[in-house]
Amino acid sequence: MAPLLSFLLLLLLHLSTATSAATCHPSDRAALLSFRAALTDPSSRVFSTWTGADCCKSWSGVSCDPTTGRVADLSLRSGVEESSSDPSLSSSSRTAPSGELLLSGPLSPSLCSLPRLTSLILADWKRLSGPIPACLPSSLPLLRHLDLVGNALSGPLPSDIGRLSSLTVLKLADNLLTGPIPASLSSLLDLRHLDLTNNLLTGPVPPDLGSLRMLARALLSKNRLSGPLPRSVAKMDRLADLDLSSNALSGGIPSQYGTMLVLSTLNLDRNRLSGPVPPTLLSSRGLGILNLSRNALSGPIPDVFGERSYFMMLDLSYNGLTGRVPTTIPKAAYIGHLDLSHNHLCGPIPAGSPFDHLEASSFAANDCLCGAPLPKPCRQ
Ligand SMILES: *[C@@H]1O[C@H](CO)[C@@H](O)[C@H](O)[C@H]1NC(C)=O
Repeated sequence: MAPLLSFLLLLLLHLSTATSAATCHPSDRAALLSFRAALTDPSSRVFSTWTGADCCKSWSGVSCDPTTGRVADLSLRSGVEESSSDPSLSSSSRTAPSGELLLSGPLSPSLCSLPRLTSLILADWKRLSGPIPACLPSSLPLLRHLDLVGNALSGPLPSDIGRLSSLTVLKLADNLLTGPIPASLSSLLDLRHLDLTNNLLTGPVPPDLGSLRMLARALLSKNRLSGPLPRSVAKMDRLADLDLSSNALSGGIPSQYGTMLVLSTLNLDRNRLSGPVPPTLLSSRGLGILNLSRNALSGPIPDVFGERSYFMMLDLSYNGLTGRVPTTIPKAAYIGHLDLSHNHLCGPIPAGSPFDHLEASSFAANDCLCGAPLPKPCRQ
């Protein structure tokens, strides 16, 4: 009997400490309430559960560390984007019905008074506006996940963003952010996923972006970035997806990009890149999607395709490429979509795969190409 009794006692003790510990820390509760007070919630639904003393209990989008009772996650997504199938979403976010009923207003600096925050997700509200609070990097040392995608945030990225040394995910896409990418970004050594797509960022890609050895995706397209492609990127052994398209980047494409270990998607389209197409890119083992369209690349297309070449998509259109269509292309293991249009290519289009399944538009607007699939036959 005695062992059972002491077990029950222990259990009781454990339950009581667990529940008392999970009570919301008063200063965290105050910070959440002033964050809320700065916002307009026309539906009155997003924050309808934010009542009572214990913010750890039923406040939707808020979760606490069960042992300390400190707020660890704040996650509010509008559910307007299709990502609403994600089961981790709070119920309030799924009920936000239409554009007129979305949260709006600024992000209160009171967010900086949640010192144990590991995850801050305020995504797809469209009208959350004003700056990213400048106090975030110095105040939230445990932050691992920062996602403010799809709002109307403006102003610069905090220059000391590199102080968020636990950050693994940084997603600020689809906002109105201006100014440069802070050099300190390169000290986020745990960063795995970086998405700054579709903002108004200017200046260079940080020259030592390549220090981010854990980074798997770097998405910086649709900004106003200028200057060269950093060579250091070639050192990134985990980078699978690099998208720098639709910027104003200039200079040549470093040939080392073609020797990266796991790079599978490289989008550099719509920039001002010049010089040759590095042969390493076309003979690369892992690259499956390569878009260099709408640049100022010149010289011949390297004739280096082989059994290792496997391109789901290879787009070299709208450049100044000269010479012939490479005769080694039929040796490639696979080429799905190929676009060589709007260049200065000349001579016969080789026979065989993939040329037998491509359309004439893939070769349109060159200087003097001939043969199928173009209507113009080659004169022997
Ligand atoms: C490559 O980029 C160009 C320019 O941004 C774009 O129009 C084109 O659709 C892309 N190619 C493919 C096959 O996605």
